[in-house]
Parts: sequence; C-alpha cells; structure tokens
Amino acid sequence: MPDYPPEPFRIKVTEPIRLISPEAREKALKDAGYNLFSVKAEDIFIDLLTDSGTGAMSQEQWAAIMRGDESYAGARSFHRLKAVVDDIFGFKFFVPTHQGRAAENILSAVLVKSGQYVPSNMHFDTTDANIRARGGRPTNLVIDEAFDPEDPHPFKGNMDTAKLIAFIQKVGAANIPFGMVTITNNAGGGQPVSMENLKAIADVYNVNKIPFFIDAARYAENAYFIKLREPGYENKSVIEIAREMFSLADGMTMSAKKDAIVNIGGLLCMNDEKIFENVKNELILREGFPTYGGLAGRDLDAMAVGLYEGLDESYLGYRLGQTSYLAKRINSAGIPTIQPPGGHAVYLDAAAVLPHIPQSEFPGQALCVELYRAGAIRGVEIGSVMFAYPDPVSGMMIYPKLELLRLAIPRRTYTQSHMDYVADTLAQIKKRAGSVRGYKFSYAPELLRHFTARFEPL
Ligand code: F0G
Repeated sequence: MPDYPPEPFRIKVTEPIRLISPEAREKALKDAGYNLFSVKAEDIFIDLLTDSGTGAMSQEQWAAIMRGDESYAGARSFHRLKAVVDDIFGFKFFVPTHQGRAAENILSAVLVKSGQYVPSNMHFDTTDANIRARGGRPTNLVIDEAFDPEDPHPFKGNMDTAKLIAFIQKVGAANIPFGMVTITNNAGGGQPVSMENLKAIADVYNVNKIPFFIDAARYAENAYFIKLREPGYENKSVIEIAREMFSLADGMTMSAKKDAIVNIGGLLCMNDEKIFENVKNELILREGFPTYGGLAGRDLDAMAVGLYEGLDESYLGYRLGQTSYLAKRINSAGIPTIQPPGGHAVYLDAAAVLPHIPQSEFPGQALCVELYRAGAIRGVEIGSVMFAYPDPVSGMMIYPKLELLRLAIPRRTYTQSHMDYVADTLAQIKKRAGSVRGYKFSYAPELLRHFTARFEPL
C-alpha cells in the first residue's frame, strides 16, 4: 500500500464551493466578531471546522434513507439499527439520541449529583459542560505525554491510571457516579487509547464499583490505531477490536456524526437495567420515544449502514493516511503539529507559531482568523477560548496547557488537492507570523463560549 492510500471511492455527486475575494473575507470576519462559528458557510472555501456531521454519505446510506420507516414506535428502522448496535457494541440496552451531547445530557441528568466528580482521560467540551450543568466536576487525568506536542507516544490518549487511583482515593468512589474515557481523545489531539490502557482503566473502575462509560465518538479510528500500533492486534479485524474495547465497559455515549458517517445522530448504551429505565424516562421528556430518540426513521437507517462503513479497513487506511498527509505537509512548512497526527484532525501548535501572543490574547484564535483571512479556510481554536475558566475559589484564570488550532477533516469529502491548498496557505502565514496580533473578548457567555463569543483585534 502507498503511504497515503487513495480514496477507496469515486465521486458521483458534487457540491460547489467558491473562494470569495480578500475584501469580502475581511468584511465577513468583522461582521462575525472574528468568530468563525458566525461566518456563513457559503463564504468558506475549505471547511475544516469539524468532522462532525460533515462527512459524505455513501450510495448505500442514501438508499437506506429511502427505506426509513417513520412509525412513531417500534419502527423497522429502529430494529435494523438495533441489530447493528448489538453486533458492534454488545451492550444490553441502548437508545438513539439526536446527537452525542444529548446522550451526555441524559446520562448526566440520570447519574450526576451536585458536587460529584466524573474522571476521564479528557472530556470533550460538551461532555464537560453537561457534567458541569448538573453541578458535577469533570476531571481530566490523561497521561503527561499528552501535553508535550512533540512526544511520539503511540497512545497519547491513554489515561494515567496511577493518577486515577490517587484521585478515587482522594474524592471517594461514592462521589464518582460514573467514570469515562474518550476514544480517540479529541480535546488532546485526536489521540488513541490502547487496549492495554482500556483494560487497566476498566480494572480500576470495576474494583471501585464505578460504572465505566466510553465516549465512543471516534471508536473506529481508535480501533484502527490499535490494529496498526499495538502488538498482538495486527491480525485482528477492526470490528473484533471494537467489540473487545466495548466488552470492557458498562456503557457508552456516542456522537454518530463522526465514525458512523451520518449528518445527525447519537447513541447511549448501557448494561444496567435500572439506569436504562431512568434513561428512557428522561429520553421521552427531552428527545423522543425510545425507538427513535429525536431522530427520523431514515436517520436511524443511515446510521445503521454508516456504522459498518466506518469500520471498513480500506476506508480507515485512506482516512488516517489523509490526516497524516496534511500533517506532514504542514510540518514541512515549519509549523509544528501534535505528533503523531491524530485520526480525524491535525492540531497546529498555535503557541509555537505565534510565540509573541500570550494565552490571555488567544494565539489559537489569532491563527484561526489568519487562516480564514489568507485562504477562506475554517478551523477551530482548541485553547483558551474554549477551555480557560476562572478558578472557582480564587477567581484567577486557569489556562489550558496547549493552545491549538484544529483542522478537522470531514469524512470522504475533500481531496488531496484541497489538503495541498490548506498546507500552502499555512506556509504563507508562517512567513509573516510575526505581524499577527492577538484578540480580546468583546462578548463571552459563561459556558461553551467559543460558539457565540465575539472578539476585537488588539
Ligand atoms: N464527544 C466527543 C469526543 C466529541 O468530539 C463530540 C463532538 C461530542 C462528544 C459531542 O457530540 O456534537 O454529536 O453532540 N465533537 C464535535 C467536534 C462537535 O467538532 O469535535 P455531538
């Protein structure tokens, strides 16, 4: 196989994109308060804001959409999805949800009491916020290597189980309604978690009788990394690896908008019947009847097909190859990215590109704005805009360890020449990086502020 396997599909339907003028881009930035979430999609040329819900569905998924059964209860679509979910994940109970955060909300509503802790390697922002919204305290216990962008550790998403044990001793297992791990670790660079580590995490949670939930948004990419990098797994199929991963857990939340390659959808699975009863009641209140959970029947069918397509090994080889191709081209322009490249995205070390901009002036956001200005490319800041919060006791700002710009690659959507355009644009920015200025907030809500904040250039 070549280093970067070509797309294992050809293009049957196209969607036009256009590059607007530099003047129009400047106006779009100003109107959006320098927040790329507020820029119109039609003013973006290459959209790497997220790999979530932005993938291209296959002909089989579109065909499945036509078969969708829109019955309110007990639809055929639900049972087709159930067969696939049972086959891959193997939990006793599940409900569909409209997306990942809905599953997180329901799980948090059912299990988290004010003042309780939920450990993980690193929570994604919506998980973090859903736990906080119930008065809980999300806690990140990833290995230290995760914070060194250059460390080539093959499983940088791993949780530090010594830290986890010490943490449980400190706060008490009774104050931990459930524990999590995110695969792959999106907030830490899309880095995988090894099977060995998953087993160790499961052991610690089991010994302490803490239910273990996996955030499975990018589980297929994680399973493929295990196949590529973990001794003993090279001859196992990705689906076998996936089944082994989930056999270790008591449940999972999942955004199906990633590895299930659908535009909308999520899952909440569990083995505990009592939790399931409470989940169903909460689901009916917030999302819908348990056989559709806020989705149309056709969405359930598209998910059922996409779950298997996301596990296809020729697809995964191309997928991880495309990400590492983009990372390599960006690196050769002198821009460091988190190493090794993750599954779904390249994470640029904005602090290294813009060392003259302090964290309080948002270097990740500054690089994000510059990338739009130079090439109408949209990425997302994963740094102080997203994660700096005042300490509840002292009121002092606590800044995250990394200031990143994430370029997330939608699945089966952009070609290698699109990736070349992104890398070439970044190379231009790198040459004039010293003249890039920082930003300050002109508006910022308390939770999930990166979505709606507005900025002023300094
Ligand atoms: N967990 C992880 C690891 C995620 O990356 C996301 C979403 C969610 C949960 C929430 O899922 O969007 O379906 O509600 N991540 C997207 C991203 C938004 O851009 O990384 P959701």
